[in-house]
Amino acid sequence: MPVSKTFYIETFGCQMNAHDSEKVIGTLEHEGYTQVSDETEAGLILYNTCSIRDKAEQKVFHRLNEYKRMQGEGKKFAVIGCVAQQEGERIFERAPYVSIVAGSASYRNLPSMLSRLEAGESRITGLDDRQTDETFDTEFTARSNPHRGYITIIEGCDKFCAYCVVPYTRGKERSRTSASVLVEARRMADQGFTDIQLLGQNVNSWRDPSGKLSFAELLSAVGNITGIKRVRFTTSHPRDFTRDIVEAIDATPALCDHIHLPVQSGSSAVLAAMSREYTRDWYLERMSWIHGAKRDISITSDMIVGFPGETDADFEETITLLGAVRYDAVFAFKFSPRPNTPAVTMIDSIPEELKTERLRILNDRQREIQREHYARHLGQQVEVMVESYNSARGQVVGRSSQNKTVNFTITPGEIQPPIGSYLPVHITRTMPNCLVGEAVEGAVPFLATASMQPQPFVVLN
Ligand code: SAH
Ligand code: SF4
Ligand code: F3S
Repeated sequence: MPVSKTFYIETFGCQMNAHDSEKVIGTLEHEGYTQVSDETEAGLILYNTCSIRDKAEQKVFHRLNEYKRMQGEGKKFAVIGCVAQQEGERIFERAPYVSIVAGSASYRNLPSMLSRLEAGESRITGLDDRQTDETFDTEFTARSNPHRGYITIIEGCDKFCAYCVVPYTRGKERSRTSASVLVEARRMADQGFTDIQLLGQNVNSWRDPSGKLSFAELLSAVGNITGIKRVRFTTSHPRDFTRDIVEAIDATPALCDHIHLPVQSGSSAVLAAMSREYTRDWYLERMSWIHGAKRDISITSDMIVGFPGETDADFEETITLLGAVRYDAVFAFKFSPRPNTPAVTMIDSIPEELKTERLRILNDRQREIQREHYARHLGQQVEVMVESYNSARGQVVGRSSQNKTVNFTITPGEIQPPIGSYLPVHITRTMPNCLVGEAVEGAVPFLATASMQPQPFVVLN
């Protein structure tokens, strides 16, 4: 039975996976496929997977079993992304109705994989070439938001933290040239994008293969493109975090005043066991650069509780670090043993209940800090990019340069600001996780001319 040229894609994981799906969608469309939003109408179902935590493999197989019920209708299945790379051909063993298993570095071969699929082949893999220097060609990217877009500047990771699957699922680190990044950024600006997010598992480990620009210089160059109002970059690694990044933010208005710099633990002993290759003091020195900046740069972090061997005293150091840094947001996770990683062979000595308890303590403390820390925005005028409307509450929802959600109202009688526009908002209330305010009276929302229409969405977990 020929494959119907319609597809449905579901995406899990980080922003890099979300952006990969935009590339996969663009490639499929270029190959004559049409995206549908209902899986029952699709000839090809793609599942772009994440493997970072929590028994991801089991979840994928569980979902595949649900898909299996749709078998017999001539549907084809593709498992792509990090679980695909990690589990490889084992996926065919456990789910024989899957036709394609492909990791992120092989998406540029999708056209040939699709031809083979259309010719009736099964068990098609794209798992071999993640060690190449190429990054996926971005020519066919179908960006899902016409105002804010991702650009991957570096793929893979060479850091091999003891707990993490990414080096095994994404392959070795490879950077794009500054020229290629800037061409894409300029093209996006011409298309009406005003907000660019530079992506990499460790974005600041980017090294220009052409040797022209440092990472901080690349940030400034993207920030100085006419039409670009906001530039973010994520995720930064403390090891490669240099002072000139803070200086670039101070000097370039379009660089957002936000840095996501995951610490993982406040204890140098745990950091050593994690192979993070920095200490608490090393990290705090970088914090002092950010705290010393001219701009009020918000700082966010990821943390892991319950890493094997983490003592009460180690955990206490994580808690005291929260107070020392005063983060604007923390994403905290219980340690989750992952296949292939060194930590999986360490004795997972922390009982589940203790991990849960530590996570609760950390989140409670951080919430208190945010409650106090967000109060600094009271009375401020903040520029907001409009993202959606909450009609039930009569509010407009947007985001500040610091990456904070701002819920605001507009003066009765004034026009609702369009999605993707920017306008100043007067902050009248602060909550631990968002700011509340009113649009500055008489302010005219700024909207760049967008030449693209919104594309179907991808789902994030
Ligand atoms: N490259 C980034 C992080 C990428 S993974 C960095 O080095 O900071 C995103 C986050 O998932 C990590 O920061 C970490 O907090 C969390 N994470 C990764 N592996 C994990 C594991 N095995 N268990 C729990 N959390 C994990
Ligand atoms: Fe994972 Fe560490 Fe690489 Fe981050 S730096 S992606 S945590 S191995
Ligand atoms: Fe998940 Fe892979 Fe991203 S494991 S977090 S989708 S790099």
